[in-house]
Amino acid sequence: MSEHALLKKALLNATRSMTQAKNDGYRPGWHLSPLVGLLNDPNGFIQFAGQYHLFYQWNPLACAHGAKWWGHWRSDDLVNWQNEPVALLPGDVYDSHGCYSGSAVDDNGTLSLLYTGNVKFAQGRTAWQCLATVDDAGEVTKAGPVIGLPEGYTGHVRDPKVWRHGEHWYMVLGAQNLQQQGKVLLYRGDTLQQWTLLGEIAGSHLNGLGEFGYMWECPDLFALGEQDVLVFCPQGLPAQAQRWLNTHQSGYVIGQLDYSKAAYQHGDFHELDLGFEFYAPQTTLGDDGRRLLFGWVGMPDENEFYDPTREQGWMHIMSCPRELRLVEGRLYQQPVDELKSLRGAHQRLEGRADSLAITDVAQAELVISAEGSWQADFGGAMLLSCDESGLRLRRQNRRTGETETRYWSGQVRQLQILCDRSSLEIFVNDGEATLTSRYFPAEEHTLRWQGSGELRVDHWQLQSIMLV
Ligand code: FRU
Repeated sequence: MSEHALLKKALLNATRSMTQAKNDGYRPGWHLSPLVGLLNDPNGFIQFAGQYHLFYQWNPLACAHGAKWWGHWRSDDLVNWQNEPVALLPGDVYDSHGCYSGSAVDDNGTLSLLYTGNVKFAQGRTAWQCLATVDDAGEVTKAGPVIGLPEGYTGHVRDPKVWRHGEHWYMVLGAQNLQQQGKVLLYRGDTLQQWTLLGEIAGSHLNGLGEFGYMWECPDLFALGEQDVLVFCPQGLPAQAQRWLNTHQSGYVIGQLDYSKAAYQHGDFHELDLGFEFYAPQTTLGDDGRRLLFGWVGMPDENEFYDPTREQGWMHIMSCPRELRLVEGRLYQQPVDELKSLRGAHQRLEGRADSLAITDVAQAELVISAEGSWQADFGGAMLLSCDESGLRLRRQNRRTGETETRYWSGQVRQLQILCDRSSLEIFVNDGEATLTSRYFPAEEHTLRWQGSGELRVDHWQLQSIMLV
């Protein structure tokens, strides 16, 4: 379809669905969400010339996956955002079936995007890694493919994450080899146009991992302290009793990248988030040295199309922006400090859980310290239980109606819960673990406290953000 025809279709969908989508009670007040249509991965997250840019996988034509566009937001503070011109539309021979995920870099003062051109044929698919540049007005010029499909891999090679190290550019790509094993490929570039494949640095059957999934999506490799962290999304890990319970996982390993040998030694895989929906996260390095992360609060190939917002013409949200730290060999995540600017009216609740007043959690932040066992019932749609063994999060599967549970084991010292209409982000012990999920309460957004545990709860109403 021509760009002109695509834009007409998108405008028609926006005109028809916008009012309904905007007024939906499940629409977040302070998280980023698409005007209409379906949002998935965060892309091109960067602080460039002082301002944050966040691009995103977007199908503005329908609540479905398909030939993705890149939407674009810009911000001074990671909290309030402004819409920028749509960055990438599919339709060229090298991205006919979608401008898939990728990243942004500052190439000597030029904001440059590296993304995957997804191309499907009657029999199969191929992928091109493509370059585009953004001007000051947010207008994007495509420069076309810079990497074709490497030999020995299926058409599933995608999601370039690019960074600068010394004199060179480096890129990691998610890939599937011909034996259906998920891998991460490392490339080196003299320029953003000229790339050399250095080899596989991680994957199924590498670095002692054994069989570890048929595809790895959205790799992101970055230095944090003295370590090199590889974040990625392996597909095909079999569910275990209390872990790897989502259809696909999103997690990390920690190690050392030897640039001279293109070799990466790493330790065990850890899930990045233990909730029901969290996928395809992407990080960037802020000017102040913080490693920042956004994730997609969604889960592909599962039950996403049973989300009630689909009927209202929009689907999915971004996570809140988070800061990453390494603590004793584990990645900690905390909401960025800037989000405190959203805090409004404050109240303190104290006492036995089942004696506490029903709490409004439509847009709220809770900081909880507790002793004993207690539960928090979020509008009858999500139950959080806390006892000496850790946390359990329960809800009904929206497709099957069955109860499903997610777990964190350990001693809970403190919980921070960010609530926004239809999402919960739970941060355990200052970021030691997170559980991110959507939930769709039938009535009001209220929290009922249960159990005999003694609680101290700080509660703030959270204001809505500006998204202009
Ligand atoms: C992850 C992903 C990426 C791909 C994009 C397409 O959610 O499947 O691998 O580039 O979404 O929208």
